Amino acid sequence: MDLFEYQARDIFEKHGVPVLGGVVATTPEEARAGAEQLLGGQPGVVVVKAQVKVGGRGKAGGVKLARSADDAAEKAAEILGMDIKGHTVHRVMIAAGAKIATEFYFSLLLDRAERRYLAMCSVEGGMDIEQLAVERPDALAKVAVDPRTGIDQAKADEIVRAAGFDADIAPKVAAVLQTLWTVYRSEDATLVEVNPLVLTEDGEIVALDGKVTLDENASFRHPEHADLEDAAAADPLEARAKEKDLNYVKLDGEVGIIGNGAGLVMSTLDVVAYAGEAHGGVKPANFLDIGGGASAEVMAAGLDIILTDPQVKAVFVNVFGGITACDAVANGIVAALEILGDEASKPLVVRLDGNNVLEGRRILAEAGHPLVTIADTMDGGADKAAELAHAAA
Ligand SMILES: Nc1ncnc2c1ncn2[C@@H]1O[C@H](COP(=O)(O)OP(=O)(O)OP(=O)(O)O)[C@@H](O)[C@H]1O
Ligand SMILES: [Mg+2]
Repeated sequence: MDLFEYQARDIFEKHGVPVLGGVVATTPEEARAGAEQLLGGQPGVVVVKAQVKVGGRGKAGGVKLARSADDAAEKAAEILGMDIKGHTVHRVMIAAGAKIATEFYFSLLLDRAERRYLAMCSVEGGMDIEQLAVERPDALAKVAVDPRTGIDQAKADEIVRAAGFDADIAPKVAAVLQTLWTVYRSEDATLVEVNPLVLTEDGEIVALDGKVTLDENASFRHPEHADLEDAAAADPLEARAKEKDLNYVKLDGEVGIIGNGAGLVMSTLDVVAYAGEAHGGVKPANFLDIGGGASAEVMAAGLDIILTDPQVKAVFVNVFGGITACDAVANGIVAALEILGDEASKPLVVRLDGNNVLEGRRILAEAGHPLVTIADTMDGGADKAAELAHAAA
């Protein structure tokens, strides 16, 4: 799970990483109040920052200086509602203005191939770091971090040396890197990135921006992380699917898809999108992998989610019987339709293949549900589902 900058800021603060004050606002009035709070009646500068989970906010005009509370309200009005690379800005953070002397870069991430973490650090941080990494890779130090020891004093010293920090600030930076390691480890992050990490004119090292990705596989250790989820942005169907432990992603089309195994579902999406070209351009409405089990309950839960999507006009169930044989899947479908009763109101094309396929097809045929069409092949099923969706659209 990716966090917003303001959430990363809060987590940094909790672990002792030096940050500046920040207040979240969803309206220009809240932005004005936030700026007043930060400025405390003194003249000064605040920064209004779009809170979106995408990089390059500054370059897109989503980070603006404001010289008063009124100015902050104006800048917030400009930024709220802005579209940054497909992300609508619903919130801004009003941050205390830093007097920046120099901008640095630091990140710590999971290096799966090496089974370690990788620290990256540069004395040339800021908004052009991507360009730097491509054009002058030597200016970006890369230091492997052993997960067992993490960034201790010795490792922090090694990183700042590799990055080429001046001797007078190196110890301060090394101390901050150790607190960032504490964030990484104790929050079960897979990414902690600070760009820019700055040296202020007063000689302090401060994290001015933060990107944190948390490892959702470790969420059982962090009940408090549930509060960080962006419930407002999550699709309601995705939220319901998650409650039922279904692997579901909402898409934009008209043909609901259910399959078993992520690979089969992915290729089903392709085949349906292709078939849709001949039927008015209908497209897959979702990704849904019901996994190996395909029991009646899971099938019912999956169908229930898909059928309540008003965009769905027809459903393609594409199952390859393996350990769970086709007869069990067919029984699951029949039972699921019984469970759903009148809620099952859209045509269903079912393609079964693999283990015990003949018995599976026989069960479906015998049940003779008026909404169900049996398809022999994946291509045939996709074509039929696309045709039915187009006819109903
Ligand atoms: N609190 C602040 N005070 C002064 N200047 C700031 C502050 N926050 C950001 N800036 C300036 O704005 C620039 C961009 O800000 P920031 O790094 O937060 O956004 P970004 O890099 O464009 O976004 P992203 O990291 O998502 O690509 C920084 O490099 C820094 O120069
Ligand atoms: Mg940044």
